Amino acid sequence: MTTLVSDFRSDTVTKPTAKMRRAMAEAEVGDDVYGEDPTVRRLEERTAEVLGKEAALFVPTGSMGNQLSLRVHARSGTEVILEGRSHIFHYEMAGMAALSGLLPRPVDAPRGRMTKEQVAAWIRPETVYYLPRTSVLALENTHNFAGGAVVPRSVIDPLLALAAEKGLRTHLDGARLWNAAAALGVSEASLAAGFDSVMTCFSKGLRAPVGSAVAGSKAFIAEARRVRKLFGGGMRQSGVIAAAALVALEDERQRLPEDHVRAKKLAEGLAGISGISLDVMAVETNIVFFFLEGEWGDSAAVTAKLKSRGVLAGAAAANSIRMVTHADVGDADVDRALRAFSEIAKGH
Ligand SMILES: Cc1ncc(COP(=O)(O)O)c(C=O)c1O
Repeated sequence: MTTLVSDFRSDTVTKPTAKMRRAMAEAEVGDDVYGEDPTVRRLEERTAEVLGKEAALFVPTGSMGNQLSLRVHARSGTEVILEGRSHIFHYEMAGMAALSGLLPRPVDAPRGRMTKEQVAAWIRPETVYYLPRTSVLALENTHNFAGGAVVPRSVIDPLLALAAEKGLRTHLDGARLWNAAAALGVSEASLAAGFDSVMTCFSKGLRAPVGSAVAGSKAFIAEARRVRKLFGGGMRQSGVIAAAALVALEDERQRLPEDHVRAKKLAEGLAGISGISLDVMAVETNIVFFFLEGEWGDSAAVTAKLKSRGVLAGAAAANSIRMVTHADVGDADVDRALRAFSEIAKGH
């Protein structure tokens, strides 16, 4: 596949497939606020099944899914423990504070893997009445800003056991849970097991144009439906977009290993270029994060140079870049990106 522009900024840039567009055009719909959209119902039932939960709820965005889950789980004035570079903490506009009166308690962990000891140190004791209560423990899998890092059950299980012991609710930001499952060769349900709620996105590597879901117990979903309306997310004939999400769910998960192979190839090529600091072994899924050293200068200047060569990448911080593989970048795009980096490195 050769495209005009090789867009590695995010897997969210993927365009819907012809099959998705057909499904959208033909979708059977109704008013979902009245619970009358059969396509949304089907998507919710199938999502719950795939994630191994009792029920699911279709939501417009991953951010809304995360935020409404926290709102359902926690009382205002309590603390939420989560990883220091997690999407919920960094990129959701202080949503938990603004929308639900919750205080984030970030815990920094390499590769997004918080330990039981780290979390235990921040669970507030009931015996000290003037401390906020800890209400929720939230994890992210794959962890976006740890470079698409996979969080395996060996990390999850001790954390869920601790949460159960201390009476905390647990939430999983599984925007890219599909990638984690593909990388580990396990089911999504096996990675979602034990969490009170899980959010996942159809609009990233799975290529749907819009849509995410939350899943959990029937009681959780009943409350989540109320909060979705409160947050302005009650949708009407949303079967039109749910139809594309259903195609995404059924057709696109099998393809994700291809994205992972291309990310690895991209990482290996980049790691061989002088002044690029990148741990190839850390690239487990479709996200490649790396640092620029020495002569390279500012990442914004580098992404501008890449753009002039038809390659789009994200400047993650002053000296780091994020590149994401997805269905709309092929081998030729990876080659073009590596060529562009080599040219820039040589000062051409
Ligand atoms: C890990 C993670 N969680 C949540 C989200 C939020 O999804 P949305 O952009 O649909 O709000 C993203 C978006 O990139 C993400 O990477």
